[in-house]
Amino acid sequence: MRKRTVVANWKMNKNQHDIEIFAAHLFPLLDRVKNVEIVICPSFIGLPVLSKLCTGSAVKIGAQNLFWETKGAYTGEVSPEMLVDVGCEYVIIGHSERRQIMGETDTIINRKMHAALAAGLIPILCVGETLQERENNLALQVVKGQLDHDLKDLVLLDILPIIAYEPVWAIGTGINATSDDAQNMCCFIREMLEKRFGRSTAQQVKILYGGSVNGKNIKEFLDEKDINGALVGGASLMPESFFEILEVAQNE
Ligand code: PGA
Repeated sequence: MRKRTVVANWKMNKNQHDIEIFAAHLFPLLDRVKNVEIVICPSFIGLPVLSKLCTGSAVKIGAQNLFWETKGAYTGEVSPEMLVDVGCEYVIIGHSERRQIMGETDTIINRKMHAALAAGLIPILCVGETLQERENNLALQVVKGQLDHDLKDLVLLDILPIIAYEPVWAIGTGINATSDDAQNMCCFIREMLEKRFGRSTAQQVKILYGGSVNGKNIKEFLDEKDINGALVGGASLMPESFFEILEVAQNE
């Protein structure tokens, strides 16, 4: 069974001191966690401190966003190369909060996907429907549209992206999708990947579920055939609740 991936998305939380405290509590426990790819994504300014703390540990670090140019007059932006320089290996792209609050379009997300791969970063592409779209039976169509645009013209060589299925209505609400619904969507995503990149690549791409994941409900998602891990917001903020998730995510 392939190694599962658990990604902590800290969003706009934790200053440097909070990060030190988190690491001091979590890292000593990690000897007890086997065979899980652990990725933590702090804010941009948390990256250097987390990167130092992660040296020698199994934890990998990721950013929550990036810009698609390498350098230049782009006030307020951070380039893929800067992320690599600070020790990032992953980057979340197209999170629904960025799509909805920052107005990121699929065209922008596609440019970011290209830029991340070109810089050697593993993109974690988030897709998912709103409640209204699900209620109108549009969930599959919406996710297909996102994948079609966001993955446009990508050629996958050494690095495979990770896809996170995050129904918007499940994010931060405490209302998770059922494992059946999540599996159906993740299976559909794998079929889309197969059409675009071929069967062998589609089988290797990790597909995560995200949306109100916690230590109690994660097992039912991980038991599903096409779910290879989780993207975790709220429950990743405390070392205890994040550790609970990591313990369950270990492959038996
Ligand atoms: P949540 O957030 O676990 O708090 O629902 C998930 C996410 O936004 O990635």
